[in-house]
Amino acid sequence: MKIMVIVAHPQLNESRANQALALELKKQGDILIRDLYQEYPDYNIDVQREQQLLLDYDRVVFQFPFYWYSCPPLLKKWFDDVLTYGWAFGPGGIHLKGKEFMVATTAGGTEKAYRSGGDNYYTISELLRPIERTLTRCNGTFLPAFVTYDANQATDEYLAREAKRYAEHVQTSLYALAH
Ligand SMILES: Cc1cc2nc3c(=O)[nH]c(=O)nc-3n(C[C@H](O)[C@H](O)[C@H](O)COP(=O)(O)O)c2cc1C
Repeated sequence: MKIMVIVAHPQLNESRANQALALELKKQGDILIRDLYQEYPDYNIDVQREQQLLLDYDRVVFQFPFYWYSCPPLLKKWFDDVLTYGWAFGPGGIHLKGKEFMVATTAGGTEKAYRSGGDNYYTISELLRPIERTLTRCNGTFLPAFVTYDANQATDEYLAREAKRYAEHVQTSLYALAH
């Protein structure tokens, strides 16, 4: 299975959590890991190139820090620009049929806060619904998300454990993730 990870962090160099996750994946070998903000500092996304990359990979992981209960703006623009009518959805929009998509996000909030009755009211799965529906609207398969909570308080040991858990999650089969 060919896996592409699109990391969308406005300052990956200054990140602790996302950088730790990405570095662990780099050790895994055959995974393409991209830094979206580094590739498109001017927000001018090469749509044809992105669509070709989508065709070339079986599983696409969107990795980002949770910003205002959503993704950072360049990734939102990536969805807006790349998932075009007639290509990703609508008449003839069949190119992403069956493709596996996954979100991997780091949150400042704790897991306890992300539940009914908690500080953030909703689970991360609930808050990720717009991204999930965008990708299922394009006939993709949306896999269970990977989440690292409490990312700003994380010790190096915690991040190292999370990074190992992430590397496993990213490479786990659809069947094992969903059952
Ligand atoms: C603009 C902004 C918005 C944020 N919004 C949220 C949020 O909605 N929920 C949350 O749990 N954390 C939020 N955070 C905290 C980040 O998710 C956290 O700092 C990040 O995941 C840490 O990862 P990093 O070390 O890779 O930067 C926000 C941070 C910033 C800068």
